[in-house]
Amino acid sequence: MCGIVGFVGDKNAVEPVLCGLRNLEYRGYDSAGVAFYDGSKIRNVKQAGRVAALENELVDIDIINTKTAIGHTRWATHGTPTKLNAHPHYNKDKTIFVVHNGIIENHQELRSMLEAKGYHFVSHTDTEVVPHLIDFYYQKTKDIEQAFTSAINDLSGAYAIVMMSEIEPNKIFAAKLSSPLAIGVGRKNNMVGSDASAVADAAEKIIYLEDYEIAVVEKNKYKIRNLKNKKAVSRDPEDILIEDARASKGSFEHFMLKEIHEAPKTIQNAILGRIKIETNEIKLGGLDSVANQLRNIDRIIIVSCGTSYIAGLVGEYLIEELAEIPVEVQLASEFKYRKEPYGPNTAILAISQSGETADTIAALKKVEPQGLLTLGIVNSPGSTISRMTKAGIYCHAGPEISVASTKAFTAQVTILVLLALSLGKNRSKLYKDLLVELASLPKTAEKILSLSPAIKEIAIRYSHHRDFMFIGRGYEYPVALEGSLKLKEISYIHAEAYAGGELKHGPLALIDENFPTLALASSPTLFDKTASNIQEIKARGGKTIVVTTKKQQKHFKTIADDLIIIPEVSDQLSPILEAIVVQLFSYFIAAEKGCDIDKPRNLAKSVTVE
Ligand code: AGP
Repeated sequence: MCGIVGFVGDKNAVEPVLCGLRNLEYRGYDSAGVAFYDGSKIRNVKQAGRVAALENELVDIDIINTKTAIGHTRWATHGTPTKLNAHPHYNKDKTIFVVHNGIIENHQELRSMLEAKGYHFVSHTDTEVVPHLIDFYYQKTKDIEQAFTSAINDLSGAYAIVMMSEIEPNKIFAAKLSSPLAIGVGRKNNMVGSDASAVADAAEKIIYLEDYEIAVVEKNKYKIRNLKNKKAVSRDPEDILIEDARASKGSFEHFMLKEIHEAPKTIQNAILGRIKIETNEIKLGGLDSVANQLRNIDRIIIVSCGTSYIAGLVGEYLIEELAEIPVEVQLASEFKYRKEPYGPNTAILAISQSGETADTIAALKKVEPQGLLTLGIVNSPGSTISRMTKAGIYCHAGPEISVASTKAFTAQVTILVLLALSLGKNRSKLYKDLLVELASLPKTAEKILSLSPAIKEIAIRYSHHRDFMFIGRGYEYPVALEGSLKLKEISYIHAEAYAGGELKHGPLALIDENFPTLALASSPTLFDKTASNIQEIKARGGKTIVVTTKKQQKHFKTIADDLIIIPEVSDQLSPILEAIVVQLFSYFIAAEKGCDIDKPRNLAKSVTVE
């Protein structure tokens, strides 16, 4: 998953491209590069590392008189993150330059075909086949647009590709299949980019390309064509829906800590205008258009990945308990290849912060032919999943910059509570009480945040450990999973998570004095069961940190090495609050270890390749 930007206009083209790349770094940040036409030839500069490293390379280069430029920030799929493998890639005589996001699945056979024709490859990437293939067709047709089209037709896999050439230096060529790509329409210039944040600085309107579309973009015009039916495509530009992605960290050292501390506001924004306590009402406007279908659904399959998958697991507990509708949560990457029956009243619910996760998009594409009801819980406005699903609910959590998702999880679970209550309105005895409790939850979240210094002190004392266990039962089990995912992502510590009752069936073998456990035990209904699991751990010399309530703490005094006392809430709402505890705990361990918390190694914020 990478970020792509292109600019064609009549002023310094490199600056808006660099600005777009900075906004796209959440997509990948292991290397970056630009190519630009300086009036006589195309030059390119690329560098391993962040966009900032690339900008350093450009300091002494005259970029003022450049009118066309393309750029790329990378998350390596094929070939290590080096300067050589950084994009753009080019043909032998450096007249055709290409940047690409996605995976070209038939790159090996194309490479062999081209090498057999004397083409020489310099990188280990799949992408490098593209400029050579365009060159191959250009030698035949002497028409760069035709050569571009023929080359694209030969590719299979997922791609967003942008190309510029010395043959027609005032044009940018673009093609999309699965990976996101859009045209940014400006007054005196036009752009292309992976999403709205790539073009927002120099364009006023945006046109999202659909699969199998190619576009030719010039400074004051553009044309789109469908590769399959070869017909011209006309689509009205839309307003650029973008929340100020360039949010600052404020006084926080990292975006992650800032985003954790936004929990009260995040919960507030997720319920704002959606619950009316005085009339016991829940209004989810984004679902109005499918209200009839919703009344008849008899099965929900939640498809998502990573933290959104874990939010889905909480949703399963909530919807089954409060709405009595059977729910399955499936990893989107597995769902795509599973063979299973669907009934006409099965609904597919996709959960995604970015709305651009390729696995989740592929899961939705799989069920398109069946015409099932598809719903989305998405944070990014205008994203692919928000446009693909029939109806949905926006998280309104604002831009999430840190790669490790925190406030999006808080918002997703809050919305799943609303959805479960709304679907179960006439069925659940808990409806009224939970609605009232939810309305006051932002205040309770503030109390959790006030525990930050205490959580920090405990986290620092455990930060030297190389292994960690998280346990929880019922609604707390997914929170244990989320805690272990967060700790893995940002501190690179080996972390496991299990339902408390599962420990004795194997994982308990891991436990000793060097393998501490964080146990979530605030559930008024299950704390005693979790207490017996903590006993089992203590009996093996394991250290334990127990998250529980004032009321329950007496049960853990003798078996907990450390206690984190949180306010009491209903089981159904506890994941929203306890997630903040495990997010803070993971953050302080990673901070103590001096990790690059907002941009952890090997990861990216939006995973746009399968
Ligand atoms: C979570 O911290 C990770 N960034 C990752 O697991 C993420 O949740 C996953 O890639 C899904 O992303 P999405 O919510 O944007 O679809």
